[in-house]
Amino acid sequence: MKKILAALLAGAMLASLAGCGSGGSDTLAQIKKDGKLVMATNAAFPPFEYIAGNEPAGVDVDIAAEIAKDLGVTLEVSDMDFNAIIPAVQAGKASLGAAGMTVTDERKQQIDFSDEYVKSAQYVIIMKGSGITADSLGEAGVIIGVQEGTTGDFYATDDIKGDPNTEEVARYKNAIVASQDLMNGKCSAVIIDEMPAKSIVAANPDKLELLPDVLTEESYAIAVKKGDTAFLEQVNKTIARLKSEGKIDEFLIQHTGE
Ligand code: ARG
Repeated sequence: MKKILAALLAGAMLASLAGCGSGGSDTLAQIKKDGKLVMATNAAFPPFEYIAGNEPAGVDVDIAAEIAKDLGVTLEVSDMDFNAIIPAVQAGKASLGAAGMTVTDERKQQIDFSDEYVKSAQYVIIMKGSGITADSLGEAGVIIGVQEGTTGDFYATDDIKGDPNTEEVARYKNAIVASQDLMNGKCSAVIIDEMPAKSIVAANPDKLELLPDVLTEESYAIAVKKGDTAFLEQVNKTIARLKSEGKIDEFLIQHTGE
């Protein structure tokens, strides 16, 4: 019995060592080989990522550029659906995912998160004067627009409607198109993160307004391949440097045009 246990333990240790080895510094090696760091994102989420002219810009782009700089390589931004980011990181198609991504337990099963770099919350955008309140969002017939696969989607579906099969949550590719449908009368409200919500309302000040309610408390972090501790440490090192230099606040101010 003891022998079997010992053998099992040794096997488990070997397996975990092997796991470490294979995940160990895959990403760092790949980045150095390619001379570039690939950031997976969904660039319709100002001020964190958006398209300026033809180029991706934003707080996350600036942070990823600093990580690339610290590694002595260039940054390539790969714009995709939000739902495609975690699979891209898992498959090694991207070195990291930086997308104002909220740390959640479900996502922690799929990827590893860096240290958190910004606090956020879900906000509600409505048509000015429509009289929609946070309390009325759960009523029958009230359609809530969200970005598919985001924490706003999960909150609207699970917490407000309380039904995973609800047809009263309209799922869009991004919050900007969701807000266009809000202005076209196709939904009654849009739930999205604080700063993108403020940015969308600021771009349409005659039509849209923000409810004062704060629906959630969240934090953003960068996603890396599970078990790749060497690369994760490198990412955390750059984040720590940027925090100590006050750079993240600088990037936020820069990209909100304040
Ligand atoms: N914070 C939310 C989430 O993690 C929304 C992120 C959306 N990001 C984006 N780049 N579109 O689910």
